[in-house]
Amino acid sequence: MNNSNDLNINNKYKVLFVCLGNICRSPAAQGIFEHYVRENGLQDRIEADSAGTYGGHRGELPDRRMRTAALYRGFALTHQSRQVRSIDLLDFDLVIAMDDQNYEDLMHIAPSVEATHKIRRMSDFLTTRRMSYIPDPYYMGAEGFSHVLDLLEDGCQNLLNLISKAEFSK
Ligand code: 4NP
Repeated sequence: MNNSNDLNINNKYKVLFVCLGNICRSPAAQGIFEHYVRENGLQDRIEADSAGTYGGHRGELPDRRMRTAALYRGFALTHQSRQVRSIDLLDFDLVIAMDDQNYEDLMHIAPSVEATHKIRRMSDFLTTRRMSYIPDPYYMGAEGFSHVLDLLEDGCQNLLNLISKAEFSK
């Protein structure tokens, strides 16, 4: 999990969640992960952000349907959409793609071979392993958003456990 990181000056472990539009899956993953980080008192040691491979929703809050579904579970989503940049792959320690297309797009913009080693799939952290990607809920009904949140809660909890073990139990 540990990557040498010249740009990371505050010494926090930095996680970036990436999807297509940065208005549904990745801001939800960020909000859920940040919630668990705070619950575990790790906010001085870990930080999270999210971004989209597509920049068309730049500056927007998460999709209202996702904000509503997340808030119902106690997660307030306030991130404003931004497009991912090559430099993110230097700045962050771990960059987590929601699906295979996001993964390929991130591999494509990675500025170095070392940077590609920071890119993982969110599905790698699902304890159930029921899915090989996080489905895009944008064109789905309410149950699509709920399913995505179920997956992200599981994956983010497991991700935080793995980071805590790897980084903070030395
Ligand atoms: P996300 O969902 O990648 O989970 O944020 C989408 C949001 C917007 C679009 C597609 C997917 N779009 O085509 O605008």
